Amino acid sequence: MSAYDAIAGLYDPWSRSVTEDVLFYVAEARKSGGPVVELGVGTGRIAIPVAAAGIRVIGVDDSEGMLEICRARAERAGVSDLLELRAGDFRRPPVLERVPLVTCPFRAFLHLESDGERLDALRAVHRLLVPDGRLVFDVFAPSKEDIEETNGRWLEREPGIWERADWDLERRVLTLAVRGESGESAMRLSWRAPKEWRALLERAGFEVVAMYGWFDLRPYEGGEDTVWIARRPAV
Ligand SMILES: C[S@@+](CC[C@H](N)C(=O)[O-])C[C@H]1O[C@@H](n2cnc3c(N)ncnc32)[C@H](O)[C@@H]1O
Repeated sequence: MSAYDAIAGLYDPWSRSVTEDVLFYVAEARKSGGPVVELGVGTGRIAIPVAAAGIRVIGVDDSEGMLEICRARAERAGVSDLLELRAGDFRRPPVLERVPLVTCPFRAFLHLESDGERLDALRAVHRLLVPDGRLVFDVFAPSKEDIEETNGRWLEREPGIWERADWDLERRVLTLAVRGESGESAMRLSWRAPKEWRALLERAGFEVVAMYGWFDLRPYEGGEDTVWIARRPAV
């Protein structure tokens, strides 16, 4: 059972203000021509706009609750024929197709808890890609200020939706609790520094094409967020 199952009904209102990445991922999908495999597809926040742009998406997630909501949203949006949902773990994605683009939006790789798990996932992506195919994802590593401002405090993120961050600096693990009228849960997010992500990508056989500091493609200058474009070399 995934920690997301209990809050699947809360996820869309909880992430309502997160919109800055949608056009970026849609543009990457258009550039690739598709199909796109989205790892950690969730409720389709990104996958539905990508499918609405006419690009075929295979969405993988290990939360049945999130997939159920995604399926209903895709039907309402009229894109079910372009969005195929598959239950599974993104370290062993149930995908036999080879695709030009794999994405993992909104920090979903932070659910990987060790370098072994990160490498399993990155190597699995490598196998899914055609030569020259791309992996595009975003992650974060918290700033000192963010930790000081939020640690151990319940904060109302959206009306009626409360969030609490407990930061374990030694293990670099954030325990994020969320609660609202329709459910509550807690999940662990494990962060790594950009240079560690770069080293892992290279160990998995990728070439880093770009690492941005935000979805508007500004250069990375030491902020919390990093947006990665990595390529499976042709040879
Ligand atoms: C932060 S949400 C992102 C959802 C969506 N991509 C978005 O941008 O809104 C992370 C998603 O990853 C999924 N997830 C976490 N660990 C996973 C794993 N090992 N395998 C498959 N899905 C996973 C969760 O169920 C959740 O739906």
